[in-house]
Amino acid sequence: MKILLVGGGGREHALAWKLAQSKHCTKLYAAPGNPGIAQVGECLPIGAEDIDRLLAFARQERIDLTVVGPERPLIAGIADRFRAAGLRIFGPSKAAAQVEGSKAWAKTVMTHFAVPTAEYHVFQHVDEALRYVGSHQEPLVVKASGEAAGKGVFVCADQDEARRALELIMKDRAFGPSGDTVVVEERLAGEEASMLALVDEYNIYMLESCQDHKAALDGDRGPNTGGMGAYSPAPVVTDRVLALVQREVLVPMVHGMRTEGAPFAGVLYAGIMITAGGPKVLEFNARFGDPETQPILMRLRSDLVTAIEAAIDNRLDQITLEWDPRPAVCVVMASGGYPGNYEKGKEITGLDKAAAMPDVAVFHAGTRAEGGRIYTDGGRVLGVTAVGDSIIEARDRAYEAVRAIHFHHAHWRTDIGAKAIRRMAGA
Ligand code: AMP
Ligand code: GLY
Repeated sequence: MKILLVGGGGREHALAWKLAQSKHCTKLYAAPGNPGIAQVGECLPIGAEDIDRLLAFARQERIDLTVVGPERPLIAGIADRFRAAGLRIFGPSKAAAQVEGSKAWAKTVMTHFAVPTAEYHVFQHVDEALRYVGSHQEPLVVKASGEAAGKGVFVCADQDEARRALELIMKDRAFGPSGDTVVVEERLAGEEASMLALVDEYNIYMLESCQDHKAALDGDRGPNTGGMGAYSPAPVVTDRVLALVQREVLVPMVHGMRTEGAPFAGVLYAGIMITAGGPKVLEFNARFGDPETQPILMRLRSDLVTAIEAAIDNRLDQITLEWDPRPAVCVVMASGGYPGNYEKGKEITGLDKAAAMPDVAVFHAGTRAEGGRIYTDGGRVLGVTAVGDSIIEARDRAYEAVRAIHFHHAHWRTDIGAKAIRRMAGA
């Protein structure tokens, strides 16, 4: 089976690594891919958002299955275009991808179908939003409604911060039209988890739990990023929490989207805050998480292509995924300055040494190859991922591999997994 993978980040390297291991995969292409993906497949000079050229390539090469990593092509309708051309593709329609592409729409569906989430208000005019913020003392979260690569969310300590966030989004238009509408919501307290599920027309199949680390700095301080590290499973997701997320979040949301005329098929990602009052939704994404996919796929023993095929054919009730019971930890190595300004083009050394360590995989995100060397080429550069008998062992292995890798001005959090370790110790 010829497979085309759309995207070129850390999530896509993990997907490529797993897809290439499938007994069904005879040839893997990635558009645009990255130097890590080039080790397991053929990278194409086609951007992940160039739907016309992706479609032309898939037709010409008679691609059997297309797997989409990032949200943007999904939000732009790549799945509809491929399906209309009679091509098999894994990912939601444009209408269903709104669950990520419009936070305001997602909130409306959640409200109609009683999915637990933070109290919120939607604004299209900055003055109204500022007035609302001015009359609320409690901590608020300000979100650009549209897609903003995980950076359009501001968890504000006070009214001044909320005002500044509104001005950045609506007046300075830091996220362009994605900030034409804002969602202002109550700030929830608790611990976060990422719950991903394969969804077809009739079934929801939950993947193993995971926890991301969104803030740039240790102790969850600093600005939000796309994610600085992740581990799976997340001990905060007990069997009870898992059952609640399935029953109160995923089932009503999937039902609600179908009722709204936007049935979801693909990977539905629920970002959850586990509050004293139970799990509440922070956001939905219409795709695999990044970096969640890295530790999740390192633990998946089953064939990913078999699972994706079952999802496309509405047969998720007929599969059972096997998981490595051992925990996995992914530490993101980023360019110093990310998520703000950062420099690119720093040579990366030590990659082979790190990748040769047992139970370690070094997933490339923002990297570039030139003359046999690898250089940094983005904010998040690498996802250094390790499996261990315990979360402590997985964490220690991942950091040992991180220490073997060098590039100028590298930044990583030193506390990935710390919450899980504290929880396991009963602290
Ligand atoms: P989102 O992209 O909407 O998930 O927001 C990114 C991150 O901001 C989340 O992972 C949380 O860390 C934080 N966040 C979002 N909404 C809230 C909220 N209502 N209360 C507390 N933190 C939030
Ligand atoms: N790690 C967060 C995301 O994939 O949106």
